[in-house]
Amino acid sequence: MGLRCAYAQGVVCIALHIFFIAILEDHVESSSYEACEPRNCGTDDFNISYPFYIPSGGNHSCGYPGFEITCQQKRAMYGSYAVKSISYNESYIELVSQRDTSCFAPRPFTVLPDNPFLRDNVFRHPSLLFFYNCTDPSFPFNTSSVDCTSNATYNTSVALKLPRCSFYRQGGSCRSFAEVPVQLEEGISNQTIKDVDYRELLHKGFQLKWDLLTNCNGCQESGGRCGRSQYADFLCYCLHGTNHPKDCNSVRGKVFRIRN
Ligand SMILES: *[C@@H]1O[C@H](CO)[C@@H](O)[C@H](O)[C@H]1NC(C)=O
Ligand SMILES: *[C@@H]1O[C@H](CO)[C@@H](O)[C@H](O)[C@H]1NC(C)=O
Ligand SMILES: *[C@@H]1O[C@H](CO)[C@@H](O)[C@H](O)[C@H]1NC(C)=O
Ligand SMILES: *[C@@H]1O[C@H](CO)[C@@H](O)[C@H](O)[C@H]1NC(C)=O
Ligand SMILES: *[C@@H]1O[C@H](CO)[C@@H](O)[C@H](O)[C@H]1NC(C)=O
Ligand SMILES: *[C@@H]1O[C@H](CO)[C@@H](O)[C@H](O)[C@H]1NC(C)=O
Ligand SMILES: *[C@@H]1O[C@H](CO)[C@@H](O)[C@H](O)[C@H]1NC(C)=O
Ligand SMILES: *[C@@H]1O[C@H](CO)[C@@H](O)[C@H](O)[C@H]1NC(C)=O
Repeated sequence: MGLRCAYAQGVVCIALHIFFIAILEDHVESSSYEACEPRNCGTDDFNISYPFYIPSGGNHSCGYPGFEITCQQKRAMYGSYAVKSISYNESYIELVSQRDTSCFAPRPFTVLPDNPFLRDNVFRHPSLLFFYNCTDPSFPFNTSSVDCTSNATYNTSVALKLPRCSFYRQGGSCRSFAEVPVQLEEGISNQTIKDVDYRELLHKGFQLKWDLLTNCNGCQESGGRCGRSQYADFLCYCLHGTNHPKDCNSVRGKVFRIRN
C-alpha cells in the first residue's frame, strides 16, 4: 500500500510509502501446546512428535506434510510399514514391513507415503522384489522361490535389487508385486538373492533418514513443542498459548508480517 501526494505545480511531490506492520491475529488456537504433546499409539516405546504427527480429526498443526503416522492395533504405522523406532536427534525412522507370519512374505503393494524429505533415501536402499502367483517362474535375473506360497501352477519368487540397478521382465505372468527396501551391510555391492536370507532382511527392516531444514531442537530446549500453521512452515508452541517462529525464549509471542 502506498500514499500518493499530488500538490499544485512546482510543489515537489513526495510519495510516501507507509509500511504497515500488521499484527496478525493468533490463528493458532491456544490449545496447540497441549494438542501437540508427544504421544504414542499405545504399545510402542517411542513417541510420535514433530515432524511426525497423527492426523486424527484432521489435525495437521503438530507435524509436517508427508510425516503422517497412523495407529493400527496400538502400533505406529508409516504407510504400509510398521514403525520400529524413531530417532529424533539423528533424524531417522526405522521401518519393517508387515508380513504374513506363516510365510514371511510382505503384502502385495506395500507402499511408503509420498515424502520428498525421504525420497532420496529410498532410492539409495537395496530392495527385495516379490513376484506373486507367477505362472511362468523364469526370470532373467537371480530369484529364490518363496516356497510356502508356491505350488506347481502359481509360483512366488523374490529377487534382490541393488541401488542404481533396475530389473526388466517381459510379460505379465505374475498376479502381483511388492518392493520392500532392506538394509545390507555397507560395501557389499555384488550380492544377489542367493547370498542373503530374505526373511532375516525383512525382519531387520530398514532406516530412512529425513532431511528437513526446520530446526525443532531450539524450540524443544526452550520448553516448547514444534508444529506449523497454515501461515508458517514452522512454529514453536509454548506454554500459555503463545507461539513463536523460533523458540519460547524469543521476545514476542505473536506472528508478525510486514506488508507494503
Ligand atoms: C487440533 O489441534 C488444535 C491446536 O492446533 C487443537 O486445538 C484441537 O483440539 C485439535 N483437534 C483435534 C481434533 O485433535
Ligand atoms: C512420551 O511423551 C510423554 C508425555 O508427552 C512422556 O511422559 C514420555 O516420557 C515420553 N516417552 C518417551 C519414550 O519419550
Ligand atoms: C541421540 O540420543 C541418544 C539417546 O538419547 C544418544 O545415545 C545418542 O548419542 C544421540 N545421538 C546424537 C547424534 O546426538
Ligand atoms: C495368489 O492367488 C491366490 C488364488 O488366486 C489368491 O488367493 C492370493 O491372494 C494371491 N496372492 C497374491 C499375493 O496375489
Ligand atoms: C546369479 O548369481 C550368481 C552368483 O550368486 C552369479 O554368478 C550370476 O551371474 C547371477 N546371475 C544373474 C542373471 O544375475
Ligand atoms: C517355483 O519356481 C522355481 C523356479 O523355477 C522352482 O525352483 C520352484 O521349485 C517352484 N516352486 C514350486 C512349489 O513349484
Ligand atoms: C496353487 O495355489 C493357488 C493359490 O495360491 C490355488 O488357487 C491353486 O488351486 C493351487 N494349485 C494347485 C495345483 O494346487
Ligand atoms: C563380492 O565381492 C567381494 C570383494 O569385492 C568378494 O570377496 C566376494 O566373494 C564377492 N561375492 C560374491 C557373491 O561374488
